[in-house]
Amino acid sequence: MLYKDVAAFFDKVALTYDQSIPFFSRFSHHLLTNMALADGMSVLDIGTGNASFLPLPLLFPKISLTGIDVSHRMLQVAQLRPFAPLLSARFVQSDAHALPFQDNIFDAVYACSVWPFFSDQRRVASEVRRVCKVGAEFSLCLLSSSHHNWGFFNTTLNTYVALTPSIPPPPLSEEARVIDCLRSAGWDNFVTSKEDFTFHFESVDQWWQWQCAHYGRRHFDKLSDQMFQRFKNDIYAKASVVFQDEGLWLKQNLILVRSKKALH
Ligand SMILES: C[S@@+](CC[C@H](N)C(=O)[O-])C[C@H]1O[C@@H](n2cnc3c(N)ncnc32)[C@H](O)[C@@H]1O
Repeated sequence: MLYKDVAAFFDKVALTYDQSIPFFSRFSHHLLTNMALADGMSVLDIGTGNASFLPLPLLFPKISLTGIDVSHRMLQVAQLRPFAPLLSARFVQSDAHALPFQDNIFDAVYACSVWPFFSDQRRVASEVRRVCKVGAEFSLCLLSSSHHNWGFFNTTLNTYVALTPSIPPPPLSEEARVIDCLRSAGWDNFVTSKEDFTFHFESVDQWWQWQCAHYGRRHFDKLSDQMFQRFKNDIYAKASVVFQDEGLWLKQNLILVRSKKALH
């Protein structure tokens, strides 16, 4: 994935990202409540988006937070969040592959729903290790398998655009591969856990807005205005039937991988 494409995509959805239903923010809450954080720590949030740190001011108001992201607009929205000023927070537009920070300065680092975007995950793991103090925690929140009841979505989309292979669903070895990668970059003391989160959409509108506000949107974003309208009408009609029958729901499995910077 090209840095510029990803940044441009998230710039575009920044204002609506995670607004229709708290989705990613539930995952960051889960990640942050599972980390060994404490007031006074200096914490780095990689790919902070429009505010994956939101639970922090309530949990640990005296944390000093640095959020980085390639998307300028996502960071702008993050800074406007009402809770942001409560933290001693700074936001820096930068790429996780080349962190603009000195060695050994952070007590903890986390990356929520970002890992698959990195073109060189080993390099990011090394960069994060470089900027961490010895013993610091690096925690990842990974989206794993999901189940939902809108199988019609891709079938319909396929009739409008030739679907290029999307990011494939993470293979079962995902957790092992991530740990291997982190270990090779000098991370140790791994603790992993899995959890299912179920989302029930309140309306077809809410579900559609959610579809439009995350990375899946790239599949239909390039349709002409006319084709987009036809696609939307088609999808709405099918979604409405499913919604009336059984509601629209998604079950998302999450993997947390926690690690520590080893001495060596
Ligand atoms: C799915 S969003 C997750 C945002 C946030 N962590 C959350 O949980 O809501 C992925 C974010 O990672 C950012 N991102 C992608 N690649 C990146 C990179 N190489 N360095 C820094 N940020 C990156 C994107 O711009 C986007 O804001």
